[in-house]
Amino acid sequence: MSKDKFTVTAALPYANGPLHLGHVAGVYLPSDIFVRFLRMNDHDVAFICGSDEHGAAITLRAKKEETTPKEIVDKYNGIIGKAFNDFDISFDIFHRTSAEIHHETAQDFFKVLNEKDHFTKETSQQYYDEEYNQFLADRYISGECPKCQNPNAYGDQCENCGSALSPTELKNPVSTLSGKTPVMKETSHWYLPMERHEEWLKDWIKDGKLDGVQQHDTAKWRNQVVGQCMSWIDGGLRPRAMTRDLDWGVKVPVEGGDGKVLYVWLDAPIGYISATKQWASDNNKDWKDYWTGDRKLVHFIGKDNIVFHAIIFPILLKAHEGLILPDNVPAYEFLNLEGDKFSTSRNWAVWLHEYIEAYPDKIDELKYVLTSIAPETKDSEFTWKEYQTRVNSELADNLGNFVNRVTVLTQKYYDGAVPERGEMTEIDESIVEQMGVFSSKISDLVYQYKLRDAQAEVMNLARLGNKYLAETEPWKMFKDPANEERIRTIMNIAMQITAKLSIVLQPFLPATASKISSALNFVSKSWSDAAEFELIPAGHSTTKAPILFPKIDDALVDVEVEKLNASKVVETVFEAQKKDTSFDNFTEMDIRLGTILEAEKIKKADKLLKLLVDTGLDKRTIVSGIAKHYSPEEAVGKTVTVLMNLPPRKIRGVESNGMILMAENADGELSFISPEKNFEAGSGIS
Ligand code: MF3
Ligand code: ZN
Repeated sequence: MSKDKFTVTAALPYANGPLHLGHVAGVYLPSDIFVRFLRMNDHDVAFICGSDEHGAAITLRAKKEETTPKEIVDKYNGIIGKAFNDFDISFDIFHRTSAEIHHETAQDFFKVLNEKDHFTKETSQQYYDEEYNQFLADRYISGECPKCQNPNAYGDQCENCGSALSPTELKNPVSTLSGKTPVMKETSHWYLPMERHEEWLKDWIKDGKLDGVQQHDTAKWRNQVVGQCMSWIDGGLRPRAMTRDLDWGVKVPVEGGDGKVLYVWLDAPIGYISATKQWASDNNKDWKDYWTGDRKLVHFIGKDNIVFHAIIFPILLKAHEGLILPDNVPAYEFLNLEGDKFSTSRNWAVWLHEYIEAYPDKIDELKYVLTSIAPETKDSEFTWKEYQTRVNSELADNLGNFVNRVTVLTQKYYDGAVPERGEMTEIDESIVEQMGVFSSKISDLVYQYKLRDAQAEVMNLARLGNKYLAETEPWKMFKDPANEERIRTIMNIAMQITAKLSIVLQPFLPATASKISSALNFVSKSWSDAAEFELIPAGHSTTKAPILFPKIDDALVDVEVEKLNASKVVETVFEAQKKDTSFDNFTEMDIRLGTILEAEKIKKADKLLKLLVDTGLDKRTIVSGIAKHYSPEEAVGKTVTVLMNLPPRKIRGVESNGMILMAENADGELSFISPEKNFEAGSGIS
């Protein structure tokens, strides 16, 4: 039987910020494990990624950093690419959608679909920001998600619940440029009439069938993916605009496209193809081999990318004709951090490049922990405390301890040479039998995309080894020469377990696997070897393994938690602008400067001060809710702003004649509003 061929993609990260552990746990690490495993199993595989450099995610970031989109994508493509490299994610290529080959590929793709009449051109009313003279698509508009009520959903998707949206579905839409409510304005765009594809999509997603022919095993698709797609389809597919009024992106290559670019969710997935083209041409291969025929296309993504990869891109691929559709779309839920969502804007994140810089020797520790808690079927959480516990009690005490014991004892007893086995006892036979199942158990799990469980099985092999040594205790028997053969047998078997570990660890913890390999002087890159019992022959010489996982001390946890707390940016959220008033309404208000002459607390009202204010016209009593912010002593003598013509009102038995106007910041602190020049009481404000 010939081996399946694979093209594996990892979602192209937006080049608008660095990567955090959530991205790593939910896309890049699992895809890397999967691909490393496939390579060890002799599958022909291409592992494709790159940065997503178009769309509002980029232009808005450029605006925020007061620079150009080009500067932004160059900067973050560099940071992200380096972090992937340092973290040893084994992409065959990490490309960019700003590359010329991508622009050409995406334009050709668009033209093919356009010529085959897969688009409709429609004129419609779209949100427009009059202050910025710009149409507001995607992230340029935000509002309340109709599905989950998240108040900060974007015009094309809600990052909270993962729904794909259109701007008009948002409740209370505001422009993210001006913060104002947008107006409607006419524009025309190319649309993908998705409703035309409803029928085949249903069969394909639910049963894995296309034109009655079985394409993929839907049982291997995650419930979440099938569920989200079906609910989208059942809600009725609608035409979706495939172009935008923007100047950053891939230019629309057909007549009437001036000033317009391709929708980023049309251009980005085509980035998988253009990256493959670049890689193929660099390596004397034909890119078509990776996108046609008998090959499995697998997209690793986060849950907010599901409909784009399981509905929209498949529609485009099928419409283009001749290209394969995904065999699976393993989507991950979200990883949280210390009780809260990862958030770039609030700076609540552990950044991959910062971790690498701080702990360059603890790459596998992070990989291990992230795979252990990977959000495969539900959201999960990273905490530094759990990181410490898992490294210390699982990696150090289990795996590290076993490898260390075996190699140290072999050194001590036999100068490093693997001893010959003697007769096997029942316990040995049982261990050998149990050892035998690991490689196939792990591989079944990996093919089902259950990488968490697969890694747990690798650890179980180490646990089996530890248990074997704990039960047989060769170090206790060593004194008595009568046990010589028994000890040789035990150490030989323990050494075979260690060698097996050096193979099955490779997809998950490649650096650790190679440390073990070099200690054992044994290298196998082939998964099938892991099914064998005897990997190292008697007499083979080994050396002592280094300490694989130094313990993580409390200080590291404290430092990291401290750092997170310190970096937490105080959210400054001000109320939205109120609806329009009139100039007349404004001039009706009599606002003047007044000087506070006297101030005293009001009994049993801890927020209120009773003030005597010189308004230039009179001296009047005003009750003001400022006692928490100003003591009577602080208040006396201040020149403040007074709203004069509010009707008198009794507050706590005291008649108040007017109101002191206060400024309030995002934390709810109050401040008097005092004139910048030394103006006297009675001066009017207009
Ligand atoms: N940049 C997108 C995100 O971070 C993912 C794009 S995946 C691709 O959500 F298919 F469009 F490339
Ligand atoms: Zn939502």
